[in-house]
Amino acid sequence: MPMDASQYIDVTTEKNHYSLDHFVIPSHYERDVSSILIPHGVIMDRVNKLARLIVDEAKGPLVVCCILKGGHQYFADLINAVKKLTTKNGETIPLSLEFIRVKSYKNDQSEGVTMSITDEECNEFRGKNLLIVEDIIDTGATMVQLLKKLETFEPKSIKVTSLLIKKTPKSNGYIPDYVGFAIPDAFVVGYALDYNEYFRDLDHICVISDEGKKKYAI
Ligand code: IMP
Repeated sequence: MPMDASQYIDVTTEKNHYSLDHFVIPSHYERDVSSILIPHGVIMDRVNKLARLIVDEAKGPLVVCCILKGGHQYFADLINAVKKLTTKNGETIPLSLEFIRVKSYKNDQSEGVTMSITDEECNEFRGKNLLIVEDIIDTGATMVQLLKKLETFEPKSIKVTSLLIKKTPKSNGYIPDYVGFAIPDAFVVGYALDYNEYFRDLDHICVISDEGKKKYAI
């Protein structure tokens, strides 16, 4: 079931733009981001809460699917948090891990996704409880297409968590089961989110500056 908006944190540029002077930024990115939107410590605190919600609702073993590359940091921190928790009955959740690189494509006729794992590997999902871990939902197109494809392999259940959801008029309305933060319609980097492969080595989630966009443009 999609998470209710009152359950996730609404980040706005008015409330949440921290100055770069307030936290430590790697010197090689000092001029490339304009502000810190979500400091690393806040991300980690929120990840702990999302892990709690996931464990509370888990019904048996989970196959946790990391959507590469952007989802890897959230995936790693979430798994670490889930491993430390038990259900209300005091039971730990058995986890198996899967890594999927997803590319979305669009053309005149159709929209769809290609996945880096084969149909044979996807057959392993049959009858299992899947938890998809994504970094950000923007238009929602990638996730809707990915879910359509995964459903053909008849898993027992599919839940989705995304650390971020963008408040954009281009949204198709898709909302994951577990959301960390709703963010403004800006391009963000850090905590494994990239701009042309840069900024994955930045811990805070930041808004890229015009200078950064120019410097790392391809
Ligand atoms: P969607 O299909 O429009 O929802 O796009 C989802 C994908 O676009 C994400 O998995 C990211 O890889 C990428 N993306 C969208 N917005 C951002 C952003 O602000 N920073 C980094 N990547 C983004």
